Amino acid sequence: MEKVNRVALIGTGFVGSSYAFALVNQGIADELIMIDLNEQKAMGDVMDLNHGKAFAPHPTHVRFGNYKDCKNVDLVVICAGANQKPGETRLDLVEKNLRIFKNIVDNVMDSGFDGIFLVATNPVDILSYATWKFSSLPKERVIGSGTILDTARFRFLLGEYFNVAPKNVHAYIIGEHGDSELPVYSSADVGSIPVLKMIERNKEYKLEDLDELFLNVRDAAYQIIESKGATFYGIAMGLVRITKAILRNENSILTVSALLEGEYNEENVYIGVPAVINRDGIREIVELDLNKEEEEKFAHSAHVLKEILAPHFE
Ligand code: LAC
Repeated sequence: MEKVNRVALIGTGFVGSSYAFALVNQGIADELIMIDLNEQKAMGDVMDLNHGKAFAPHPTHVRFGNYKDCKNVDLVVICAGANQKPGETRLDLVEKNLRIFKNIVDNVMDSGFDGIFLVATNPVDILSYATWKFSSLPKERVIGSGTILDTARFRFLLGEYFNVAPKNVHAYIIGEHGDSELPVYSSADVGSIPVLKMIERNKEYKLEDLDELFLNVRDAAYQIIESKGATFYGIAMGLVRITKAILRNENSILTVSALLEGEYNEENVYIGVPAVINRDGIREIVELDLNKEEEEKFAHSAHVLKEILAPHFE
């Protein structure tokens, strides 16, 4: 009998409900359990999503649930918590979201859950570390969305610049999902031609354009939040991409927030890096060949995260 893929979603606000919509629309899971303190809103989402079931490529049974339902699910996706307001950085959310996460993770683990956590709430690197600590699950089964959206933004903008489809751009954003993230231009390529080679070959392309392009990636969320109050479609689709790599046992390489234990000369920190994702979670971390500048920026980004973690996790 084919395995039934079950996902529990905790937090059905902007990001959570967008994730649920994208997951059902793409027909990735067999069952989706929606959990939220606001039961009335979650119940409304459940009805609304089930009514669209006939239009999806594969039917997902959506239902309202509670923490006890997490016992038999493969994946718990956490989107609950306070989100950035205009003028706030992601790191400003640490205190209140750590308290919320302790309660969530304790309740999920009390159900007997023994699957994979996927963390989306910001600051996602800090909250992924907290989920790993609070759950005591093996590190490979606690994954943060990390820089998956930043990398998608990077590929979109590079695709626009070089006039090619984003899927033909291989380029990563790594580090904190936040102000200290960094682009890895040294290994970026367009259709297997190194980006730096393309600049050498064609005078219409300029290095300073690439610097400006990265700033647009890094600051995209601030612009979106200013214009519509929150970001949710891009991150929801990134979360579904990670979910698909897990449930379909893909061994795909995605930039997620993962615990480093010596990789990139860092340890005891969750941070955005390329990793191979499959049914068991993070199979392995991909160590890119960074140049000196990239190494220094990555070390700075890890330091920023460790400074935030220190007072909370001695
Ligand atoms: C963003 C949120 C997910 O970057 O942090 O849009």
